[in-house]
Order: sequence, then structure tokens, then C-alpha cells
Amino acid sequence: MLTPIDRSRTAGRYFGAAVRFDQIAGNERLRDAVLRDCSSITPEIHMKWDALRPSPDRWTPGPADDLIAFARQNGLKVRGHALIWEQSTPAWAKAAIAGADWAVVRQHFEGVIGRFGDDILEWDVVNEPIDAHGLRETTFFKAYGPDYVARALTTARELAPRAKLVINDYSFEYDNPVEDARRASFLRLLRELRRADVPLDGVGLQAHLDLGKGALRRETLAPFLTAIADLGLEISVTELDVREHDLSLSLAERDRRVAEEVSRYLDIVMDQPAVTGVTTWGLSDSHSWLQPSGARGANLNRGLPYDAALAPKPMREALRSRLAAA
Ligand code: G3I
Repeated sequence: MLTPIDRSRTAGRYFGAAVRFDQIAGNERLRDAVLRDCSSITPEIHMKWDALRPSPDRWTPGPADDLIAFARQNGLKVRGHALIWEQSTPAWAKAAIAGADWAVVRQHFEGVIGRFGDDILEWDVVNEPIDAHGLRETTFFKAYGPDYVARALTTARELAPRAKLVINDYSFEYDNPVEDARRASFLRLLRELRRADVPLDGVGLQAHLDLGKGALRRETLAPFLTAIADLGLEISVTELDVREHDLSLSLAERDRRVAEEVSRYLDIVMDQPAVTGVTTWGLSDSHSWLQPSGARGANLNRGLPYDAALAPKPMREALRSRLAAA
């Protein structure tokens, strides 16, 4: 019997995973792993704008409703993902947003928060707003100007006064010019929002780790986390997984490298008291956005805690021990 990862009830930090209802409904072993290890889940897809309202006259909350019911039945917390994300904004909504009427965004928030808000403790209000230079030039940025992030947070606070409001973004982990610039760009945004007293409770660090990007350095990551914490913000690790670099190695060596990367990351991150918990972007390699299309067997990326047959891998033990130690 595996020792559960979840130590949230004793140590205060949660462990969660992104899930899809169709996947847990169709795979008992996956569902059991979620129930054994997680105290929190994130809908990988079902709460995104294009999943909920693919066209103006189609409202399709069924899978998200099913996932919320599953969470309720099993006492799981739910992270709401994501109210605004350029990539999941359907074409019809982008066309409407281009008219610069905030009512389009507000109605979307009212629909989503109205439906699910009672069950959501933490919302990714804006997903992936920055690039290396500043705010990413999304449909929202072009229509509403740079204030759209503040407006989104203010609207979310009004509609979900008790939920934690979060900005979620990626590529902050490694030492290279792009990630250096992204960290600086993210901190600039957070400081501006703080200065303007915008309702913001925390940040989500996606943490899509990558074995091809060089060593993770405490000297780089720890000061970045401290700078966020010094702004009075909480930190959630929201989408942890590991992209492999060399699939020609033995499976044992590949799994060792993945686990080592996760341990290294968590050893740094768990030292920051503002970190509230960790979510992996899936639990099993059979369901990972990192899979090359059509990949099977040894060609599957092995960057999640369980392999495709739901056997636990060293990454799971790395998570369990780091969360327990924390
Ligand atoms: O729903 C359609 C289905 O009807 C169709 O048959 C199928 C054919 O490809 O596509 C289905 O939609 C796909 C959906 O996943 C469900 O499988 C979308 O094309 C595909 O784009 C979508 O990918 C998700 C992606 O976000 C976009 O929503 C990934 O699973 C999900 O892991 C990924 O997650 C994102 C986070 O939200 C934000 N951070 C990065 C992370 C990875 O990209």
C-alpha cells in the first residue's frame, strides 16, 4: 500500500493534480490514484471559456459539473482554471472582445463564477498574461489596454469575494536570457498591481520543468520567490511536470532524472513559506500534454508521478517526501 502524498491535513500544504472527468470516469486506477494522493484537483480543460461556451448559444458545463460533483463527494478542493486565457478564448468571444466592451468579459465571469463559484477556493483569473517584455499582446490587451489584468481581478473579486485570486504563468525556473526577462516582467506586473491596490491574493507558478534547459539554481529561483512573497502574495505551484530530453536512456535512468529534477525544484520551493501547495499537470503519463502525438511505450514522456499503467515512479516519492518534509 502506497503512503498517501497528501499531508495537507497535518502540514498545511496541499497536493493536487489536473484531471479531466472523462479520464477519471473511464479509468478506475487513475481515479483511485487521485483519491489516494490528492486533496485538490484542477480541471485541465472543462472550465475554460472554449470548453464552456464553444459558441454564443451553446453553454456546455456538463463535464465541469461532473468534476465538481466528484470533488464534493470526495472532499477535494478545486482550483478554478482559468477565467481568462488567450489560448482558450473561442473565436466568437475574441471577435466580441475586439469591440472593447467589458461586458463580454463580465458576462463570462458571471456565467462561470455563478455556476461554480461556491466550490472554488482559488481562481486562476488571468492565465499567461506576460511575455519577456511585459504584458503579452493578447486580444484582451489590444481591446482593453494594459488595465485589463486589473479589471479582471476587480471583476472577479466582486463576483467571488471569498475566493483567492491568482495570476498564473510559466517559464520562471531556469537560467537563460528569456526566463531572466520573464521573471523580471512578472515581478514588474505584480508590483504595479500591488501599487494600485488591485485585488490579488497570489500567483501560480506553472513549473513545466525541462531537462533540456540546464541546471535549476537556488540562486536564481529563491530570490524570485522571496520577491513575490515580499509583496504579500501566496504562491501555488500549479502545473508541475517534467519534459524529458533524452529518451534513449534506460527507463530507470530516465525516471531517476525526472525525480531528481522535481526534488531539486521542491527543495528550493518548499523552503519558501509563502508556497501553499503543489499541483501536477496530470498524474499519469498516459494523460499528459507533453506527449508527442501518437507516442507509445518507451516514446512516452515520463514526466508525471505515475507511468501510463498507473505504477508509481520515483517522481511520486520525490513529491511525497518533499511535501511531508515541508
Ligand atoms: O474537445 C476537443 C475534441 O472534441 C476533439 O475531438 C479533440 C481533437 O484534437 O480536441 C479536443 O480538444 C482538445 C482538448 O485539449 C481536449 O483534449 C484541444 O484540442 C486541446 O487543445 C486541449 O489541450 C489542452 C490545452 O491546455 C488547451 O486547453 C491540454 O489538454 C491541457 O493540458 C493544456 O493545459 C495548459 C494549461 O491550461 C495552461 N498552461 C499550459 C498547459 C499546457 O498547454
